[in-house]
Amino acid sequence: MGSRWTFNWVMFLGFLSSCVYGVGVNWGALATHKLPQKTVVQMLKDNGITRMKLFDADENTLSALAGSNIEVMVAIPNYRLKEMNNYNSAKEWVGSNIARYNFMGGVTIKYVAVGNEPFFGPFNGTYKNVTFPALRNIQNALNEAGVGDSIKVTVPLNADVYSTPQNNPVPSAGRFRRDIRGIMTQIVRFLNKSNAPLTINIYPFLSLYGSVTFPKKYAFFDGGFSITDNGIKYTNAFDANFDTLVSSLKAVGFGDLPIIVGETGWPTDGDKNANIGDAYRYYKGLLPRLAGN
Ligand SMILES: *[C@@H]1O[C@H](CO)[C@@H](O)[C@H](O)[C@H]1NC(C)=O
Ligand SMILES: *[C@@H]1O[C@H](CO)[C@@H](O)[C@H](O)[C@H]1NC(C)=O
Ligand SMILES: *[C@@H]1O[C@H](CO)[C@@H](O)[C@H](O)[C@H]1NC(C)=O
Repeated sequence: MGSRWTFNWVMFLGFLSSCVYGVGVNWGALATHKLPQKTVVQMLKDNGITRMKLFDADENTLSALAGSNIEVMVAIPNYRLKEMNNYNSAKEWVGSNIARYNFMGGVTIKYVAVGNEPFFGPFNGTYKNVTFPALRNIQNALNEAGVGDSIKVTVPLNADVYSTPQNNPVPSAGRFRRDIRGIMTQIVRFLNKSNAPLTINIYPFLSLYGSVTFPKKYAFFDGGFSITDNGIKYTNAFDANFDTLVSSLKAVGFGDLPIIVGETGWPTDGDKNANIGDAYRYYKGLLPRLAGN
């Protein structure tokens, strides 16, 4: 569901893995009042933001990022996944969207997001069969273009790709959703082999939004509610959600796969829990949490 919100809010992007840490922002283009690209890039620089995730590979956006040294995740939208099942199309896409920016003073592209939350429930399985072949073709095309060591594929996923049993809702019981477990296993095996990360979007706000019984305190980082799992105390939904993914990965044999948090954040309008005070409370807890790795 993350994609619903990305057009309204610029959200924080946490890169979490064993030894790399950094925070960036998402830049969605589905906006009623678009900012000029140069202005956005200047805002990033002024605020010391060195990483950025896009939802496409728009030429004007990438031109504005050229020479900025900002590390970029570009993306292939879901509606183009099927086309990328053809290797020649994947090669063409890499040539015209990646290879052309690979020069001194060009764009520092680090990742290609293949699809955006393609297994999100309401898509009804539309992208179920086309995501993995597209992912594989794009990485192979990156390799063939000679940039596969520095540019990796990933798939940004919605947190509904995994769940816990109703009678044991703890992170260690996390498993990939049954209908996509086989596909997720193929995907993570390929990502591991390619030294590429998995990307997950985690929104405690959406857990709160989606459930009247969700304890609001648990959406933040300042305590007041906790669950205990095998002696580990979880005081916020973000950590619990993240570890549910780690358990799901472990269960299919890839517990050490690097994970990027592609989106998280808190909206400031549009819902009763969407306001500046709650957004401030969320980021005030999140950022030190990320800095603590
Ligand atoms: C998914 O199925 C539901 C119920 O049949 C339908 O209302 C919805 O439009 C479908 N969504 C997509 C993206 O096809
Ligand atoms: C995906 O493939 C399976 C198995 O071949 C098939 O049953 C299913 O209808 C396909 N789904 C879509 C959306 O094409
Ligand atoms: C992950 O990839 C590495 C490097 O290719 C390989 O040595 C390892 O066996 C893989 N892990 C699994 C569980 O397949």
